[in-house]
Amino acid sequence: MSRIKIIGTGSYLPEKILTNLDLEKIVDTTDEWISTRTGIKERRITDENTAVSDLMTEASKKAIEMANIPLSEIDGIIAGTITPDMMFPATACIIQKNLGIKNKFAFDLSAGCSGFIYALEVANNFIKSGNYKNLLVIGGETLTKITNWSDRNTCVLFGDGAGAVVVTESSDDSGVLSSMIGAAGEYGDLLYQPAGGSRMPASKETIEKNLHTVVMQGSEVFQHAVRSMQSAGEEVIKAAGITSDDIDIFIPHQANIRILQSTAKRLKIPIEKVYINIDKYANTSAGTLPIALDQAVRSNEIKKGDIILFDVFGAGLTWGAAIVRW
Ligand code: UT7
Repeated sequence: MSRIKIIGTGSYLPEKILTNLDLEKIVDTTDEWISTRTGIKERRITDENTAVSDLMTEASKKAIEMANIPLSEIDGIIAGTITPDMMFPATACIIQKNLGIKNKFAFDLSAGCSGFIYALEVANNFIKSGNYKNLLVIGGETLTKITNWSDRNTCVLFGDGAGAVVVTESSDDSGVLSSMIGAAGEYGDLLYQPAGGSRMPASKETIEKNLHTVVMQGSEVFQHAVRSMQSAGEEVIKAAGITSDDIDIFIPHQANIRILQSTAKRLKIPIEKVYINIDKYANTSAGTLPIALDQAVRSNEIKKGDIILFDVFGAGLTWGAAIVRW
């Protein structure tokens, strides 16, 4: 077995829409600023009774249905998220219970927006080890639950949603042709959630100071994102033995339309080949890639044999990319 392939995709987005016009009523911003600086027009938000495992469970059900394999043949679950239902148990274990999968491993993986590609890379190597055959790989968030709704620098950027894939051994020429993941922990303080962990446990003070929400140095993160996504993209293109011209569809992390345009230009991929849904869903962090993939698959924008480039960047700082032949 030389590679793994994706045999099922699914995604789930909460129904409730929050538009830029709605945000104009909450913070000092405008639809015009958000649209031109980020490409976002609206995003989906969960209600108070919905947690990330609910979104991930629904996305997983669709992926498993498309994969058309019995639950008993799923050998494990890896969930990439930074907005778990709770600190423990792992959200993947909650999903396992929801799906009715018994006696298989389940764990979460924290890699910011790169969570899905990290999880795919782990699944890739688990399956190649020969110890597992079929794995459920999920990426998703409820970022609006850790958003500071008084900070216009960040609250306009995020949305909620999840996507999932089922991966298995490939017996033909389709599958993951190359992949990479990376991190630069020295830049961790550019994008983080200060409180709620062992460094700064929840207290009256952390709540009063709004420290359980996202803090980001936007323009610094922007620059790192473009550079890292360029080099990650170049690395996997080279490792797959192809050129940019061979890429049929580029699915980049949906963080900012300008990051996506700039990365596509640096990788010499025409904008018509870039999958864009940031206008509707904003940045769903670990959710962006599997949601976009599922939507592209279900709308027949991806055909058998197509070469897909995934490329992502996030808190950590982390990044990752993969070339997949469909
Ligand atoms: O998922 C991976 C991690 N996240 C990212 O990749 C996000 C990366 N960063 C970005 O997307 C962009 O840096 C932002 C969209 C966050 C900000 O765009 P920018 O072009 O870098 O703007 P800026 O932070 O340099 O701010 C420019 C101005 C500032 O005003 P002054 O100081 O020039 O008067 C901000 O206060 O825009 C102001 N501003 C806003 N104005 C209206 C910032 N946010 C808003 C807002 N509405 N929502």
